[in-house]
Amino acid sequence: NFSSTYVLSRKINSVSVIGSGLMGSGIAQVTAEAGYSVYLIDQNQNALDKAIKSIQNSLTKTTKKRFNKEPEHAERYIKDTLDRIQTTTELDSGAEKSDLIIEAIVENIQVKHDLFSKLDSISPKETIFASNTSSLPISEIAQAVNRKDRFGGLHFFNPVPVMKLLEVIKTHETSDATYKTLLEYGLSIGKTTVECKDTPGFIVNRLLVPYMFEVVKMYERGDASLQDIDTAMKLGAGYLIGPFELLDHVGLDTSKFIIDGWRKRYPNDLSFESSPVIDKLVSEGKLGRKTGEGFYNYR
Ligand code: CAA
Ligand code: NAD
Repeated sequence: NFSSTYVLSRKINSVSVIGSGLMGSGIAQVTAEAGYSVYLIDQNQNALDKAIKSIQNSLTKTTKKRFNKEPEHAERYIKDTLDRIQTTTELDSGAEKSDLIIEAIVENIQVKHDLFSKLDSISPKETIFASNTSSLPISEIAQAVNRKDRFGGLHFFNPVPVMKLLEVIKTHETSDATYKTLLEYGLSIGKTTVECKDTPGFIVNRLLVPYMFEVVKMYERGDASLQDIDTAMKLGAGYLIGPFELLDHVGLDTSKFIIDGWRKRYPNDLSFESSPVIDKLVSEGKLGRKTGEGFYNYR
């Protein structure tokens, strides 16, 4: 058990979220809903515009039910939440003012290192850094910074506004004060937190990713159709969505990054074998829901 009652956590007022894709937009949304002021930062202006639209859509869905008798409250709530989010393509403008910076950019260690080393030089020294990586060791990402005691993992689940879980990851260098601050931030945005060590895939992905790739192997062998596999796992195992729907939902590129990375690191583990079908779909730009096609067609 990592929690330590006698450690003072740090007060968080302002949060920067870097990367405004599937995950970053959701993280910015739930953080702004909890009352924090948020900088949403991306290198790509289009991604920022898309993120604001997706936050608007998401808030429209969640407030419809919540304020069904008072639609004017829903409007106010959406406006107040969006007012707390500032978007920018300039890293400095947000990073200089934030108490917590959450990184949600592409799953690539080199790109993450470049980003964190820049952030380390421009952010106040007390600012806490966190990565939303799905599969990379947090301690390895933290190699790029001097503040290793103020670095941890905040692993969210997609779609962020819907999924209740937040995995909070401590490396052997994360200080108790930082860890406590990250856990408190998680509770403040309404998530249920679980404490994770810095092991591959933490809790959920270590189990979920090999399951998804095992499923694709079954399909590649021709044992069953993908529709039947999805139906079977939903109706026979009680899963909310089938494994191919889940792959399309997560993104086939992200899934491929994860398995390729693990296979390189752990070449003897057979649960990390690649999938020719996924490699082919990714090479054709069929990345799942986000591009309109993956295993299924969404157009
Ligand atoms: N924002 C807010 N609300 C949303 C939403 C969003 N982006 N997407 C869906 N919802 C809400 C809908 O409004 C609806 O709410 P009500 O029940 O109150 O009406 C509810 O969620 C269900 O949505 P839909 O009816 O539109 O569609 P659905 O039933 O197909 O649900 C889903 C969509 C929420 C994505 C659902 O399929 C689901 O939860 N799937 C499982 C997702 C999952 O397992 N995620 C984890 C992936 S692994 C991961 O994230 C880790 C990693 O590192 C790869
Ligand atoms: P995505 O492709 O939807 O979004 C990534 C965004 O980062 C893009 O908008 C891109 O323009 C931006 N970006 C890339 N490099 C950047 C840089 N140097 N500076 C600023 N912005 C940059 O990806 P995603 O699915 O949101 O995944 C982001 C991270 O979250 C990854 O580490 C992934 O492993 C992790 N994650 C993904 C899921 C999932 O289900 N997709 C779930 C949990 C965690």
